[in-house]
Amino acid sequence: MEKKLKTITFTVIENGIQTPIATRRGSYPNLMYLLKEELQLESFGECGGVGRCATCVVKTSGITGNSTLKERNEPATLSKLGFEEANIRLSCQIYITADLNDAEISILEV
Ligand code: FES
Repeated sequence: MEKKLKTITFTVIENGIQTPIATRRGSYPNLMYLLKEELQLESFGECGGVGRCATCVVKTSGITGNSTLKERNEPATLSKLGFEEANIRLSCQIYITADLNDAEISILEV
């Protein structure tokens, strides 16, 4: 079956369980909201996406483009937790774009 061009697909891993996600650009304000709703995560994204609470931390693999850049509060918030790795991210700072195609997003317990 042919995949629609605008469909964005990636895999989310939570507690070792892989969940395939198929969505569209801008379907949620950011990745945190998608994860919270699609996986019904409680206590996830408590600050509403301003990059301060660090309850939305994920490990990423395969993200491309501008979505690899940490901006605004993200580097400082992650640094406070000791995360300096480029692939450890606040999911609220990642938009739903084609940069997520074929990526793996692992939810971290912080
Ligand atoms: S929702 Fe608070 S840091 Fe992402």
